[in-house]
Amino acid sequence: MTKPTTESGPWVSLVMGSNSDLEHLQSGIDLLPTLNIPFEVRVISAHRTPNVLTEYAQGLVDRGVQVVIAAAGWAAALAGVVAAHTPLPVIGIPIPNSPLLGLDSILATVQMPGGVPVATMALGSAGAKNAALFSAEIIGLNNPAVRTSLLEFRRAQVEAVMEKDRKIMAHFSSKGSAAK
Ligand code: RP5
Repeated sequence: MTKPTTESGPWVSLVMGSNSDLEHLQSGIDLLPTLNIPFEVRVISAHRTPNVLTEYAQGLVDRGVQVVIAAAGWAAALAGVVAAHTPLPVIGIPIPNSPLLGLDSILATVQMPGGVPVATMALGSAGAKNAALFSAEIIGLNNPAVRTSLLEFRRAQVEAVMEKDRKIMAHFSSKGSAAK
């Protein structure tokens, strides 16, 4: 039996394979409160603590979690294993922390066999930021407050880029006039 999502959450579960992944995830962790999304953060490893991960993933629906973000480096099985144990949408973040600079983790995360999807984001920090935003897009389908926060993020982003444009135009307008 599925319990409804609770007001206090967590609505998003952010799981990483090791605490060494955390530095790559801070951009997403910082964004979730801005998007009005209650969340929890865990370290659980697909390879080192497989039984803990299975139990955790199988319990997510009953706890009212709506979206899982799973981040791992090296032979990154985490997102795929979580997806195998839950019907919730799973967003994978490959972490670029190995001698292969993330080529290993991005392939391991994105190359899921048909039948068990993982929505794979970009490597590292940009991926963590996009995972938070993608969570808001999913939750915002049924949650007006989250949708409003997401639209506000987009509005501020447009303003920030336009400000950069104004500054760079001002900078080059003084240098761009023909020499007399
Ligand atoms: C993966 O192994 C973790 O997600 C991490 O990216 C990588 C290395 O873990 P540590 O050896 O730093 O704990 O499962």
